[in-house]
Amino acid sequence: MIAQRKDDHVRLAVEQQQQQQQQHSGRNQFDEVSFVHHALAGLDRPDVSLATTFAGLSWPVPLYINAMTGGSERTGVINRDLGIAARETGVPIASGSMSAYFKDPDCAETFSVLRKENPDGFVIANVNATASVDKAHRAIDLLRADALQIHVNTVQETVMPEGDRSFASWAPQIEKIAAGVDVPVIVKEVGFGLSRETVRLLASLGVRIADLGGRGGTDFARIENGRRELADYAYLHGWGQSTAACLLDAQDAPIPVLASGGVRHPLDVARALALGASGVGVSGTFLRTLLDEGVKALIARIGTWLDQLAALQTVLGAPTPAALTHCDLLIHGELRDFCADRGID
Ligand code: FNR
Repeated sequence: MIAQRKDDHVRLAVEQQQQQQQQHSGRNQFDEVSFVHHALAGLDRPDVSLATTFAGLSWPVPLYINAMTGGSERTGVINRDLGIAARETGVPIASGSMSAYFKDPDCAETFSVLRKENPDGFVIANVNATASVDKAHRAIDLLRADALQIHVNTVQETVMPEGDRSFASWAPQIEKIAAGVDVPVIVKEVGFGLSRETVRLLASLGVRIADLGGRGGTDFARIENGRRELADYAYLHGWGQSTAACLLDAQDAPIPVLASGGVRHPLDVARALALGASGVGVSGTFLRTLLDEGVKALIARIGTWLDQLAALQTVLGAPTPAALTHCDLLIHGELRDFCADRGID
């Protein structure tokens, strides 16, 4: 049952990537953020670094492969290739939800392959918000993980035919996990966004980092609706705040934030960093490259993104990813309305 769901998610996510590009020429709310061009702001490329530090962590690059999969034979092969791509490019990588491993320890290898292929990289385990502290430890141990993601996905669970319907225990359980594990805990949304109120609550629960996981890319309301016998939740497609909106909303967040959801190219990475993200996660775009073109193409693509991000920092006069926050930005359209409605200057 879980293995089938994991295969469905991969298939429907890649179909969605293809459709998004055809239907809206791939537009999302990152397009409502632009840099003011200053013609003499540029630096010398050797003076530009991609390294980022936050919450006591140091990453060589501010880009990571975000949580996707594991739990079936096919997704084990995908994780093997994602692990290879992470190793070859030096980007941190998160595992997909490890619930399947707790239900069936025989599928452990479909997750541990991420670490096997990437022995020295930064690897993040992933559990849901109902996991016990013991399960969180098992997930971390299996991957020798450097951090733990806890995903929060109430909308996905609601549309998922076999999904959870009880959410009240999630916040207290997140607090227990954060207190009970030795690695930093990252709480992430899966594409509906974390509001600033939620980020504040997470900080009070002991969570070290929030991955805002906003709208604009993979839409799990659509994916789960596609798995229902009657696709009767279509009105929830597009629910939530975009990643750019979440970043603006979280300007005064008490903990560092990561940005993911709808990141399409290096300019989106630069925009997210300029809006205050300490790192930027990508799932759907990289999955599509891997499945359409293979692991070599994914390695080349990530390399190109890193190279072009350094080029953008050079043009924009930002010696580090954090320095992009000093760039002048223009906010347009509905994103501007969002700022007005939420009282953001
Ligand atoms: C995901 N995502 C996800 N997130 C999570 O925390 N645990 C999981 O098991 C999964 N599974 C999963 C499967 C597939 C096939 C995809 C594409 C994505 C969500 C992912 O980490 C991310 O939050 C969203 O996909 C939004 O980012 P993109 O795809 O727009 O870059």
